[in-house]
Amino acid sequence: MCGIVAYVGPREATEVLLEGLRRLEYRGYDSAGVAVMNGSGISVRKAVGRLSALEHELAGNALHGGLGIGHTRWATHGAPSVANSHPHISYDGKVGVIHNGIVENYRELKNELLAQGVTFKSDTDTEVVAHLVAREFRGDLKAALAGVLKRLRGAYALALCHVDQPDRVVATRMGSPLVVGLGDGENFIASDVPALLKYTRRVIFLDEGQIAEITRDGVHLYDRELREVKGKEVRTSLTLEAAEKEGYEHFMLKEIHEQPHAIAETIRGRVTDERVDLSELGLDPAVLKGVRRIAVVACGTSLYSGMVGKYLIEHFTKLPTETWSASEFRYADPVIDPSLLVIAVSQSGETADTLEALRICKQRGARTLAVCNVMGSSIPRTVDATLYTRAGPEIGVASTKAYTTQLAAFALLAVGLGRMLGTADAADEARIVRGLEALPAQVKALLTDDIVAVKRCAKRYKDVFNFMYIGRHYNYPTAMEGALKLKEISYIHAEGYAGGEMKHGPLALVEDTFPTIAIAPRGRTREKMVSNVQEVKARKGVVVIVSTHGDEEARELADYLIEIPDCEEELSPILAIVPLQLLAYYTATQLGRDVDKPRNLAKSVTVE
Ligand code: M6R
Repeated sequence: MCGIVAYVGPREATEVLLEGLRRLEYRGYDSAGVAVMNGSGISVRKAVGRLSALEHELAGNALHGGLGIGHTRWATHGAPSVANSHPHISYDGKVGVIHNGIVENYRELKNELLAQGVTFKSDTDTEVVAHLVAREFRGDLKAALAGVLKRLRGAYALALCHVDQPDRVVATRMGSPLVVGLGDGENFIASDVPALLKYTRRVIFLDEGQIAEITRDGVHLYDRELREVKGKEVRTSLTLEAAEKEGYEHFMLKEIHEQPHAIAETIRGRVTDERVDLSELGLDPAVLKGVRRIAVVACGTSLYSGMVGKYLIEHFTKLPTETWSASEFRYADPVIDPSLLVIAVSQSGETADTLEALRICKQRGARTLAVCNVMGSSIPRTVDATLYTRAGPEIGVASTKAYTTQLAAFALLAVGLGRMLGTADAADEARIVRGLEALPAQVKALLTDDIVAVKRCAKRYKDVFNFMYIGRHYNYPTAMEGALKLKEISYIHAEGYAGGEMKHGPLALVEDTFPTIAIAPRGRTREKMVSNVQEVKARKGVVVIVSTHGDEEARELADYLIEIPDCEEELSPILAIVPLQLLAYYTATQLGRDVDKPRNLAKSVTVE
């Protein structure tokens, strides 16, 4: 949902901004732009489409200067166009602004400015900020910004420069992420750490509402009342290599192949001697005993991992657990009180709906936990404790390693909570721990052995218009996630359904050109899934079965068979999704889709 980057220092700002935007392009790629201060004013270059279009523009029309701001856009207000691209410049040509988020009351502010005779050049909500700051400026940019912030409603990360203070960039955040990069004689602002890694690993994550003022020589942080505050400097463990494709054609493929390592990292140090150790969470057993219900809130892929999490948590804790799409939770008037434990699940830690659901829960006294991948992001900073997934940076818009590590984290969490509550059986715990420890090697084997079968399947079905994915119990969410992967990167319509529900309607869709992907590994619901497959076959449907190695009945029934290693039933979603990620990937590449940056989407959804 837009990436922003700013630089002050001795280098050519344009180069730093382009490098940063390259790392942030996953956040939006409808258009991009940079503004650079060059002694006489602010010069701007913008281009619609990918960053390469802006690079092309700059190649023929370079910008020089040591202070600049840059933006990569995911359109919210106003179509992707040069006029709507950021940076936006104020009516007097003195203020440059870039923005990630939405100014909700921009209409009201725009009408006010129009009445005062200000002319607008774009349809965006952001442009009002440039004009308001120009109106408010009395020689101190941060004071002007602080004044304007009192009038803004919504979510934002903003960075601004002013011609009359050509040595500084001022930035702030509310509901959208922002990090300050600390250099030697140079300083940086960005939406996310990878944008800074080429230059520094010393960072400060801005708190909500804080204002940062950066010059070459220093960084000062202020609260909304402009009282100076101290930020906490941290050294990020992320590396530039982790943010590169490393020879893979796409980030998504690289991230699929990173899953054995990511899962191993997620369980590292958290399982020993067949026991789960979640002492890092610092949970108070007395507080935990007061919990009567659990709600898992999340969006998209994280929601599907939460659905598996629900089954696991109910099994091991015996506490009633609900799963909520965060965007629904916010408006559904759910029962929230101090006996509720809310678990927010998010790769980015910045998803606006999830964050807001969490805030509502906190306000009403609920206990809060997070399963999250990005350290220092907003969700971990909001909750009582976080179980990090340690998947490393996930750049591809389609979530893969974040999902399987979330599933591993839920297995740990369910067993760990169950032990603290005295509801988990020790033999059951040992069985899950052994299963988790076996996973990295099993996923690795799957990635080596099954790719040919999956590629063949993708080639065979890439031209169909609809797919059905079915599963039951632990693998019902696998069906939803498999379908989501296919639709988001190949643009083929796909639905995930509970196997038992087929006969209540969707069976009517089945004909000889309609493929159904049935996820039927060994376990309690396998027999029932086989019956569902029979029902589809009886209607001449085409069936791809994902089953456990050696399932001869599945082999006979399937038009295409994809085998996964035998594993604990509770962990089977982790193995079953891997070939479905690959199926989506190879289908999309054969159709020539832009896998890492599918149309209309962005990696981090920081708007409602
Ligand atoms: O960062 P989050 O996990 O909170 O993001 C939630 C969804 O936006 C995300 O999972 C989305 O559905 C992915 N593109 C799916 O691949």
